[in-house]
Formats: sequence, structure tokens, C-alpha cells
Amino acid sequence: MKKLFITTPIYYASGKPHTGHAYTTILADVIARYKKALGYDVFFLTGMDEHGQKISDTAKKKGLQVQEMLDSVTKDFKQLWKDLDINYSNFIRTTDKVHCDAVQKTFSELLSKQYIYEGTWKGLYCVNCEENYTRDQAVEKEGKLYCKVGHELTEKNEPSYFLKVSKYADWIQKQFKEKDFIMPQARVNELLGSFIDKGLEDLSVTRTSINWGIQTKEDSKHVIYVWIDALLSYLSGLGYLSSDDKNFKKYFVDKDSEVVHLMSKEITRFHCIYWPILLNMLELRLPTHIISHGWVVTKEGKMSKSLGNIINPYDYINTFGSDAFRYFIVRQVNLEKDGIFSHDLFVETFNTQLANNYGNMATRIAGMLKKYFNNTVPTFNKNALTELDKKVIAAEKKLLSSVKDRIQHFKINPLLDDIQDQYNVLNKYIDDAKPWVLAKDPDKKDQLSNCLNILFTSAINLMILLSPILVKTSKIIEKAFNLQLNPENISKDWSGHKIDVLSPLFARVEKSK
Ligand code: MSP
Repeated sequence: MKKLFITTPIYYASGKPHTGHAYTTILADVIARYKKALGYDVFFLTGMDEHGQKISDTAKKKGLQVQEMLDSVTKDFKQLWKDLDINYSNFIRTTDKVHCDAVQKTFSELLSKQYIYEGTWKGLYCVNCEENYTRDQAVEKEGKLYCKVGHELTEKNEPSYFLKVSKYADWIQKQFKEKDFIMPQARVNELLGSFIDKGLEDLSVTRTSINWGIQTKEDSKHVIYVWIDALLSYLSGLGYLSSDDKNFKKYFVDKDSEVVHLMSKEITRFHCIYWPILLNMLELRLPTHIISHGWVVTKEGKMSKSLGNIINPYDYINTFGSDAFRYFIVRQVNLEKDGIFSHDLFVETFNTQLANNYGNMATRIAGMLKKYFNNTVPTFNKNALTELDKKVIAAEKKLLSSVKDRIQHFKINPLLDDIQDQYNVLNKYIDDAKPWVLAKDPDKKDQLSNCLNILFTSAINLMILLSPILVKTSKIIEKAFNLQLNPENISKDWSGHKIDVLSPLFARVEKSK
């Protein structure tokens, strides 16, 4: 069986989950479900990043014990994932013992292999991004230095251990040339331009100025740099270096397993440069794809506390349902470009694509089956096909022939475009074929049967294709239509199939809230 190991970043346990976190997690869940539908055995990992200065500073600012804040934030994330039907296989927290042990053992291994040496770390640091900056990379404004996102940098001068990444600049550039190792391709040029072309500096991988982190076994004054700690969660979440490492062997070591890391572009550097180098030092395989998607933005820019434009997923989940939220966000953001999240756009997408296309189509077909065929799908008569019927069938075939390729290349947005195009084809088909006119003419009985058979089959196909996104709605459809929305039922002959009652789905909403 083909296998997939897919991850989201582990999110900082310092604040409530927002729509940006939800996007990556929903995308991972949707890809996992599509891959499962293609027959993959999937392991989907998510979790929380719970160490480092940002975490301890935030707890202090909030007047909370660190552990108290971590537990409360983790609870919020887990609740949101539950409400959004995120079907993860494991949830790793970097304070979990299995993780801390794995990180300490990894540090010891790197030290004993002499990939790590002791020195002094002098440089600039962004606590918010937990990222080192050189003087060249910093932005100067009114005598102060800022990171690329605009956080003020602090100066560091402390004893530290370093990872010898500087020797790997050529090696990593070579990896970047592997097809689809980093997706989309535009990220490769960004990385080369801003980091690698100037050469790589050895990375400071421990801190002596903070204590909220995993201590090294060798020297208790040093805690491990939060990014090294965090990246290793992708392995510890599978049981790496633990007594139960069967998932690690099955989903990571096995070369037949595809390893896919998802994140957005601001943390590409860590995933695309340091992570592969670290894996190479540990003599482990590299990920198959590192996918760095665009941001969810509002008209003010990327969501951030300072801009005050953070979108709370519950504002939409509570009004429109979790499926609508899943659908909109996957539809709106894509790998290459940022996606605007606006209320008007949400309502428009909801009304046209979910209420009109998905919902109305289903209730109209159910209504006609009830009216003309006693809730039973009529027979398909190949010899009585009209030109209109043939056109719909041809469009359907074209859509279905590209689905697998779209999924394998993570092209979820184009797949959704194709699905919406097919809804337009079906809407036009109903307008042109006029089943209500056919029903009045006893000579057109075969035509009416074919029309409703084709409509039912096509609509079910589209619902199967949308089922990895519309999780709750799919269950309602399965019950009402008395069938399973699974890939084996694509283009099945439903002649004679009996359906039950379908209540309206996705009721239209007026634009202004
Ligand atoms: N803890 C690190 C990641 C360590 S992974 C080994 C971190 N955490 S974070 O809480 O800041 O989450 C960043 C991730 O959240 C992004 O990479 C992205 O996956 C998601 N998003 C947060 N805001 C986002 C948007 N506005 N738009 C899209 N996704 C973004 O970085």
C-alpha cells in the first residue's frame, strides 16, 4: 500500500488559534483525505511548539505560569481541530517526554559526530520569529533594527553550541534542483536570493540566556534552540528514538512513504535549509515535498495582532458551519498566491458555490426524482442519448480524467475550479433539457429517464469529489441518498437506486451580516 506522512507546522502555544493556522491544518486534512481516497495509508501529524523565549515571555506578560498557558492554548487548538473535523493521527507537544528524549538524544548524536561545536553567539535575534539575523538582513529604522516582518531585534552575546551548516551551502542548492522538492518553485528563488547565495553561517543551536527549553544532557546551562527542538517534532511525533518507533519506520524510513511538510512562506528557510541538512547529518532520508503556501490576508495585510485584523474561525463556523469554512479557505488561498479573506467574498462563495451549486442541485434532483420517479433513480438508456446528454457526459469524463493528477500534484484549487465548471455544465443542462417539459410528453420518457440518471450520477460524482472538504454535509447526503460518497461509487450506474428525503443544505445568506 502507498503511504503518506503529512505534517503541519507545530504552532506556538502562546495565543489562540486563528484562520491562518486553520488554513494549513485544513489543507493538510484535505490532502490527507484525498490521498486516502486514492488508496494511501496516511499518517497526519500536527501539534504545538511549546518552548523558547517567545513562549516564556508571553506567559510572563499574561501573568500566567508557562505550563498553565500551554495547556490552555493547546486545549483551544484541539477544540478547533475537532470542530473543523481535522482527522489527525497524532498531536505532538514539544513538552511531551517522548519528544524531549528524542531531542536530547539527537543533540548528543550530533555532538558525538562532531557536527556541533562550542563557541560564542554574537548577533541579532527576533524573539517573535525566534530567528537569528545578520546585520545585512536587518532593516534599520530611526536607529533601531527590525526583522523582515517588523519586529524589533535584540542583540545577543552568549556562549552557544553551533551546528556546522556552513559547509552545506552547495549540497542544499543541489537538493533544491530536485523536481518538486520545494513547492511552489518561486520559493526556491527566494531562498537562493536571500540566504544561500550569500553563503550559510553555522547555526547557533543552544541558548544560555533562557531556561524554557530542553536542556542538553551534556551541559545543563544550555537549552536547545527552539527551532531545532521544533523541527525534530516531525520525527518524535512518529516515535523516533523511542521504544515504540514502528510509525517512524513505517512512514518515514520506508522510502515508499511520501513525506510532505506543509507551512506558509515565512518559515520556509527553516524547513528548506536547516531541516534537510539536519536530516542529512542524522543519515535520514529527505522529505519528498516541502510545500510552502501563501498567506491568508485581509485588505490590511497578513493577519497580525498589531494590525488588529485577526479572523477568528468561529465567527464563520458558528454562522455558516465548519464545512463552509473549510471550503472557503481551501478555495481562496493557494500555494502560489496569498488569498484574501473578506466577509463579502465568503458570503458570495457560500451562496454561489455551496448554496446554489452544491445544495440546490442536490435538492432539485431529489425533488424531480420524487415527482417523476417515486424517489428512484430511473434507468439509463444508452440508445436514447441526445446531443445535450452526450455533451454533459463528455465534460464529466474530462473532469474525472484529471482528478488523480490534480491530487498527486497538490492542485486542490484547480480541482475546485473544475468542479465548479462542471456544476455550471449541469445547471445549463437542466435549463436546456427542461426535464419538466420532457415529463409532459409520454414519447420523451426515455429522455427524461436519461436526463435524471445523468444528473444524479454527475451530482453524486461531484459530491464524492468534494467529500474530503465537506465532511459533515457528506454524511447528510449519504443518509438522504442512501449511499456512500466513496471513490468506488464514481460513475456507478445508479439505475433503480432508491433515495430518502433530503432537507435543504447551505441556506443562502444575505450579504450584509
Ligand atoms: N512554531 C513555528 C513552527 C515550527 S514547525 C517545526 C511557528 N508557529 S506559528 O504558530 O507561528 O505558525 C506558523 C504557521 O501557521 C505558518 O507557517 C502557517 O502554516 C500558519 N499560518 C499562520 N498565519 C498564517 C496566515 N496568515 N496565512 C496562512 N498560514 C499562516 O511558526
